[in-house]
Amino acid sequence: MKLAIVGKGGSGKTTTAGVIARLLARQGLDVVALDCDANPNLGISLGLGPEETERLVGIRQALDDGEEEHAPSADELLTRFGAPAPDGVRLAVVTRIDRPNPG
Ligand SMILES: Nc1ncnc2c1ncn2[C@@H]1O[C@H](COP(=O)(O)OP(=O)(O)OP(=O)(O)O)[C@@H](O)[C@H]1O
Ligand SMILES: [Mg+2]
Repeated sequence: MKLAIVGKGGSGKTTTAGVIARLLARQGLDVVALDCDANPNLGISLGLGPEETERLVGIRQALDDGEEEHAPSADELLTRFGAPAPDGVRLAVVTRIDRPNPG
């Protein structure tokens, strides 16, 4: 099962995604949470804490800076760019946009 949470700014996407991920993991499902927000903070909602959330963003940005190699498989992506979160959820950060161009 793949779930995508989308919607208007400030409508509760991150909160909803975090709650659903944790509830499914508590039911025993193997949950991978991918934070695709341009301003990734799903780690906070998942209970990972601000420092670990920021560390994941930094690892992802290292890829853009040529300091990290792309992962050849989903498992390795989670190992290199992800972290275990409470309730057994695994989180990986997909991107962050620090300086968006106009348009
Ligand atoms: N069901 C809810 N009832 C009341 N407040 C809520 C609910 N869900 C989220 N909130 C609050 O609304 C605010 C925005 O929530 P959240 O950050 O999850 O939205 P978002 O859609 O991810 O925002 P953004 O577009 O900035 O990423 C937060 O302060 C959150 O605590
Ligand atoms: Mg959000």
